[in-house]
Amino acid sequence: MVRSVRRVFIYVSIFVLILILKRQLSTTDQMKQPVVVIGSGLAGLTTSNRLISKFKVPVVLLDKAASIGGNSIKASSGINGAQTDTQQELKVMDTHELFLEDTVHSAKGRGIPLLMDKLTKESTSAIKWLQTEFNLKLDLLAQLGGHSAPRTHRSSGKLPPGFEIVQALSKKLKDISSKDSYLMKIMLNSEVVDIELNNDGHVTGVIYLDENGSRKILKSQNVVFCSGGFGFSKDMLREFSPDLIHLPTTNGKQTTGDGQKILSKSGAELIDMDQVQVHPTGFIDPNDRKNNWKFLAAEALRGLGGILLHPTTGRRFTNELNTRDAVTMDIQSKCPRNDNRALLVMSEKVYDKYTNNINFYMAKNLVKKVPIRDLIQNYDLQTTEPDLVNELKNYSDVNTKDKFDRSLIINAFDGNISPETSVYVGEITPVVHFTMGGVKINENSQVIMKNSESVLSKGLYAAGEVSGGVHGANRLGGSSLLECVVFGKIAADNIAKLY
Ligand SMILES: Cc1cc2nc3c(=O)[nH]c(=O)nc-3n(C[C@H](O)[C@H](O)[C@H](O)COP(=O)(O)OP(=O)(O)OC[C@H]3O[C@@H](n4cnc5c(N)ncnc54)[C@H](O)[C@@H]3O)c2cc1C
Ligand SMILES: *[C@@H]1O[C@H](CO)[C@@H](O)[C@H](O)[C@H]1NC(C)=O
Ligand SMILES: *[C@@H]1O[C@H](CO)[C@@H](O)[C@H](O)[C@H]1NC(C)=O
Repeated sequence: MVRSVRRVFIYVSIFVLILILKRQLSTTDQMKQPVVVIGSGLAGLTTSNRLISKFKVPVVLLDKAASIGGNSIKASSGINGAQTDTQQELKVMDTHELFLEDTVHSAKGRGIPLLMDKLTKESTSAIKWLQTEFNLKLDLLAQLGGHSAPRTHRSSGKLPPGFEIVQALSKKLKDISSKDSYLMKIMLNSEVVDIELNNDGHVTGVIYLDENGSRKILKSQNVVFCSGGFGFSKDMLREFSPDLIHLPTTNGKQTTGDGQKILSKSGAELIDMDQVQVHPTGFIDPNDRKNNWKFLAAEALRGLGGILLHPTTGRRFTNELNTRDAVTMDIQSKCPRNDNRALLVMSEKVYDKYTNNINFYMAKNLVKKVPIRDLIQNYDLQTTEPDLVNELKNYSDVNTKDKFDRSLIINAFDGNISPETSVYVGEITPVVHFTMGGVKINENSQVIMKNSESVLSKGLYAAGEVSGGVHGANRLGGSSLLECVVFGKIAADNIAKLY
């Protein structure tokens, strides 16, 4: 009796020991280390939130900047979605197919159609996720260039969309991190400089410089690059798009393509790196014309009815709602080459629709409210008052397609304007804005390797502007924030399966 009890005890002990050992092994093997997310823009915030809230998978979020948000915090027009509740409420007819068609058309044969399909199909759930998880209203719509329906969402209220979204998502992370610093850890002033791979090519950690510049390593089997584009880096522009290095940019100084460089050095494939989006409208600050960094004149300004006038003739010269590349080309080819400038003119109705933003531009001295008559003198236009009034009237009168093939005219000037009528006006110039190219990913947000037998990287993911192939040769306005949410969620969902 005693002996058999003893034997059972020994068996049970061995069994328990094996279980413990197995668990130990699987902890190292099976990636129980926190996921490392690099970059705290919308892609990184989405990935982190999804991992910790839905799956309780621990995350360390690193950013080299001193504050959260990257370029995402500056987004001013909004985020795309087709077949959303907001569209339904506002009785807008739209479909995934239509959104995909617009995206593929804008991409001009470049990029990866499978990713575009994912982007557009998942847009409904992306908007829904933001609305339900973070209480974001996203109840207003604008129709931006190249879109065949109003589908760029923003919230009524005072905050611009990028700021509002980043604030909501980062608040949730901070709340959780203050309660459970293992589940969520945020490390700012921490610059990732390299990754570490084992002999199988599986990622085992990231190397970063801490706030004091010391080289450190953070072990992890799953790393998500959300480090943004390279629009601020003259070196990278010189390498991939040398024609553009003389243009100013809207991108923050942290936008230097670190992820693209680190990953490609480690064998990742790059795609469409030469496809850099020039946004037609960066504001020229009249007190600081030469500054290389420019405030963006949000595309919503044109989407809501702003028009562009030639800076010497005072005539319209383009379809303001064409895609960004086309409007840019018209500014560059039709306006004087020496300063590539045009006037952005908005009616009182546009102001009513976009009041907080325009007030902000006015406070920064980038937009002024003046009577039509003063435009001629202030900007040295070679036109007469009646001609200028007529030009604006003509624009308001168009109800079929105009001579620039523009059909949608909203918030235009009405027929009884005069030289006394006030307009809102700013000077704009094309700016480097977004890098379509980047690290090649598949529809699971996994990084694709070149010359590798396994093709897919092991444990490396990318989401947001650092990745390439989602927009081809030209990104539609509002699709960048969307790509952050769609592919950030996908990365998180795929990683969570491993835990
Ligand atoms: C002015 C402006 C307005 C825009 N408006 C819109 C809009 O209305 N709608 C839209 O869809 N898109 C818009 N865009 C584009 C969009 O904002 C960006 O493309 C998008 O936010 C990119 O998000 P992300 O998360 O990929 O990168 P980001 O938001 O740029 O974040 C990247 C982060 O990674 C960090 N990082 C970089 N390298 C390292 C490193 N080595 N180590 C650690 N951290 C690192 C950076 O510090 C940064 O915080 C706008 C862009 C600008 C500049
Ligand atoms: C950086 O240096 C300061 C001052 O010596 C120290 O308090 C801080 O802990 C250091 N940071 C890290 C991450 O080691
Ligand atoms: C306005 O339109 C009329 C008729 O379409 C045209 O004759 C006139 O030149 C236009 N005026 C301007 C200023 O373009």
